[in-house]
Amino acid sequence: MSQAPVNIRELLDRRKVGYSLEAPFYNSQEVFDADMKHIFGKHWMYVGVEPDVPEAGDYMTVQIGNQPILIIRDDDGEVRAFHNVCRHRGSRVCTHDKGSTGNLVCPYHQWTYNLEGKLLFAEHMGEDFDPSKHRLKPVHLKNVAGLLFICLADNPPEDFQELVDTMTPYIAPHQIANTKIAAQIDIIEEGNWKLTMENNRECYHCTGNHPELTISLYAYSYGFAPSAETDEGMKQYEEMVKERHAKWEACGLPSAEVDCLDTKISGFRTMRMPLDKEGQSQTLSTESACKKLLADFGDAAIGGLSFWTQPNSWHHFMADHIVTFSVIPLSADKTLVRTKWLVNKDAVEGVDYTVENLTAVWNATNSQDRFLVEESHKGSKSPEYQPGPYSPYTETLVEKFSNWYINRMKTLIGD
Ligand code: FES
Ligand SMILES: [Fe+2]
Repeated sequence: MSQAPVNIRELLDRRKVGYSLEAPFYNSQEVFDADMKHIFGKHWMYVGVEPDVPEAGDYMTVQIGNQPILIIRDDDGEVRAFHNVCRHRGSRVCTHDKGSTGNLVCPYHQWTYNLEGKLLFAEHMGEDFDPSKHRLKPVHLKNVAGLLFICLADNPPEDFQELVDTMTPYIAPHQIANTKIAAQIDIIEEGNWKLTMENNRECYHCTGNHPELTISLYAYSYGFAPSAETDEGMKQYEEMVKERHAKWEACGLPSAEVDCLDTKISGFRTMRMPLDKEGQSQTLSTESACKKLLADFGDAAIGGLSFWTQPNSWHHFMADHIVTFSVIPLSADKTLVRTKWLVNKDAVEGVDYTVENLTAVWNATNSQDRFLVEESHKGSKSPEYQPGPYSPYTETLVEKFSNWYINRMKTLIGD
């Protein structure tokens, strides 16, 4: 980074509502460090799913800024998170992305912890050494009907419980604990994490960029500027949504929109939306990608339940599969986007589904989105870049993302 020092407080204070952010928010090292400290250090982040650690002793690791984290299922079946930092001299205890173990043995000097983080064994430490003072440090973890969220703060935002209470009935029917990860793909976007999130919060760009994704999406679901030509179509779409919601809700599938993206510390939004054509799934044919549905829904055409969280995730739940996305900033200019596709754990690859068909839409969409984010990032480095206006019809959720970010930063940074 070669920019002059930035005054983040001043930048936050002069943010113009309804406009994209000033360039330093996308590319200065100071803002990036503040983002890691205040946004990723103090909010609940989505990091994985229960099927990442299906059995006792299964673990996964994730790196958030300079903090290595370990997520593990203990002998009682509970999923826990720890700082993946040995209490001896700090080595990472688990060095692989995923694994399975009876106890956690540090590779350096073999200090050994049980799955609850208790230090069981440390050789040559003498009589006075107290193992109980050297447990692995816990990290807050919440399991939201199978979606795993962690928070690195000592005192995590308490309103996350509202998200848990609201979302559990929406997500639970899709039975995440009864799924397996059929595919996972990590891509690294050469762009700031906020551009990744902004891009996700609108479909203004979908018609022009996502031929595969838009097969199953209704154009009217993206938001439209009112006009004489589109009024009738919009009305019909809204009627259809109302009718489908009533039908799905009657079958025990909560569907109504809930939007608190910028009104809560743990901001989120959800809605179950009808899918076009066959209406079953986000596939190229809009038919189910997996013959074994996630549960006994009766009908596969239950639309797509979408769930968006601040600061770092979005998810789509259908009758036959689930796609989840987590965004992890790597640097001011680099962002990891991790996509997982989940299917019924009894589904057999090659018989009930193929990975190619299952992943076709979002593989294409992710790569198109990567291009869009990278182009925005390049443009934001130009001295001629200046914040531009969001569409009040198709970019309202982008505005909510930016609002949430600015307000959280203002509160946490202080004066
Ligand atoms: S650093 Fe882990 S045992 Fe020494
Ligand atoms: Fe996109």
